[in-house]
Amino acid sequence: MLSSSRSFFLLAGQRRRSFHFQDSLNLLPRLRFKNTNNGSISSQLSTSTKSTVETTQRRSIPKDGITLSHFIHKKQGDDNPIAEHFDTEDIGEIPMPASLEENYLQQPQPQKFHLRTYGCQMNVSDSDIVRSILLSSDMEETSEEMDADVILTNTCAIRENAEQKIWQRLRELRAHDRKNPLFSTDRDGLLNRKRRIIGVLGCMAERLKEEMFRDGTADLVVGPDAYRDLPRLIQMLAQQPVERAVNVQLSLEETYADVKPVRRPVTGGVDVSAFVSIMRGCNNMCSYCVVPFTRGRERSREFTSIVEEVRQLVENDQIKEVVLLGQNVNSYHDKSKEAQESNPAATYQLSNDGFTNMFRLRGGAGYYFADLVAAVSDISPELRVRFTSPHPKDYPSELLQLMAERPNVCKQLHMPAQSGSSTVLKRMRRGYTREAYLELINRVQSTIPDVAFSSDFITGFCDETEEEHQETLSLMKLVQYDMAFMFAYSMRGKTHAHRNMQDNIPQDVKMARLSQIIDTFRTTIQEKNERTELGELRLVLVEGASRKGDHQLNGRTDQNKRILFDNVDCLSELPSSSTEKSCTVALKPGNYAVVQVTEVRGHTLKGRALCRTTLQEFHERKNKMDFIKLIHN
Ligand code: 5AD
Ligand code: SF4
Repeated sequence: MLSSSRSFFLLAGQRRRSFHFQDSLNLLPRLRFKNTNNGSISSQLSTSTKSTVETTQRRSIPKDGITLSHFIHKKQGDDNPIAEHFDTEDIGEIPMPASLEENYLQQPQPQKFHLRTYGCQMNVSDSDIVRSILLSSDMEETSEEMDADVILTNTCAIRENAEQKIWQRLRELRAHDRKNPLFSTDRDGLLNRKRRIIGVLGCMAERLKEEMFRDGTADLVVGPDAYRDLPRLIQMLAQQPVERAVNVQLSLEETYADVKPVRRPVTGGVDVSAFVSIMRGCNNMCSYCVVPFTRGRERSREFTSIVEEVRQLVENDQIKEVVLLGQNVNSYHDKSKEAQESNPAATYQLSNDGFTNMFRLRGGAGYYFADLVAAVSDISPELRVRFTSPHPKDYPSELLQLMAERPNVCKQLHMPAQSGSSTVLKRMRRGYTREAYLELINRVQSTIPDVAFSSDFITGFCDETEEEHQETLSLMKLVQYDMAFMFAYSMRGKTHAHRNMQDNIPQDVKMARLSQIIDTFRTTIQEKNERTELGELRLVLVEGASRKGDHQLNGRTDQNKRILFDNVDCLSELPSSSTEKSCTVALKPGNYAVVQVTEVRGHTLKGRALCRTTLQEFHERKNKMDFIKLIHN
């Protein structure tokens, strides 16, 4: 299923042609001009380029008085109402241009792409890679969807409702373009019917492959490991040797390590935080999850390229927080030759004896996740380091110690439990029991006393009984999560659960259980934050204006809690004595501030900014008894 060789499909009209090749760059010239029929790659292509020739003929109408109506060509299945209004009189054979090659080179190139992202942070990060690849192939990005020659949607397949939203969007885009055909003017001043390319990227593209062409919704389907191929596929579609293109080949090696992501700046603000992709894919094969099928095998990006990217973000872009990103970040393992030579004695450890690994090819020399967190946090003491999403099995003591010791490694851990019941966890193939999970939580709390936990939960998984559901509620009450992401189970094709279990919890029961776990989370977090946060001084990284406007600022505490506070001047630094006069400043995005928590609204806090500070200064002085007194004077 997975292969490191490259292959893709081209589709012309209803006919599908597929082929494999080693060097994709050699392909295009053959594809453009050869029209032989000898059973080779090019012969396969010659059949699939039939519709291209027709399209090319349409575009080559000479200046002979022929009007627009002559080249609005009503294709089979094209229900364009405008085309029906024109007189479609037969104008006979349209002469072919002298040279197909010349004609090909005259075709207008697509200039503008619009990219919309659905789903997780990994998709946001992948879109930054796509943007980089397209911009370096001389395309431009436009924020106006209708202004784009190519509309790309980066998709999520994790639950059925995520996919439904995307189908809806694609149908709307296609319906819009059918009702409002696009035209462009060529260099002879003639008006040509222009085709907007609608492309689907990411997990849904990978899961559904050619099915995405259903009802003519998409022209281009590209999976998460094939983004380097996008410029070529787009050019082929634009110049019309093919009508549809797909490349959904998964890779064992692709990490896009050498592609510098082009991040989209936050609307109306300054970026203070950046996602940095460190690994791709997942080997865990949880029984409900489609990710291993859409994103393929786990592979880690090279240690040195990650450290270098973060260094540049800090030095050139003034980034104050990085979030190391991957489907299973803490199983990171760079086993490249250089990594093995630099770190020959390294070994892999599970979190505790109660955890197992689905995939056994682990261990050996190289760099592990704790090495990476250490190296990234060494780049600057003023840089906050976070990571998501981890698996509970990969929390060795070394990593926990590092988090406890380093002020700039944030004290917040995502510990996706999924369920509080050992029997459900077994069916989910999570590789741990409720007891092993709770033992880990206790160990983390004793190593990092002020740690905050977040988790994911799935409710209504196959055969889930009321008792098993109650165990999830009880786990939530025990751990008192600071944040939770809660979902009703959605059966996904190809997964172990799909092949071997029944999605037998009625939808209304799933929804009722979901609302119970949401209520439990809300009640416990309100109580916990009132107990642990009210009145406390927190180190906050200022992100910018809140949604309510400039009068209110928005930031995050070390434990990743969102906090809102009035945008009023505060002390410019921590005073060193109660008599010292300190001037006041307005806080800016990227500043650290000491904020006192004044109100709790579930998992969001409200506070009062007291003073600008630095990450180091806050940690050096936070334990001193006079801290609050000095600020209040
Ligand atoms: N149904 C519902 N939720 C799911 N998740 C993954 N697969 C499914 C599914 N089939 C949830 C898990 C995971 C999060 C990213 O999405 O909780 O941690
Ligand atoms: Fe899916 Fe499990 Fe991998 Fe997370 S760890 S991406 S839930 S298979």
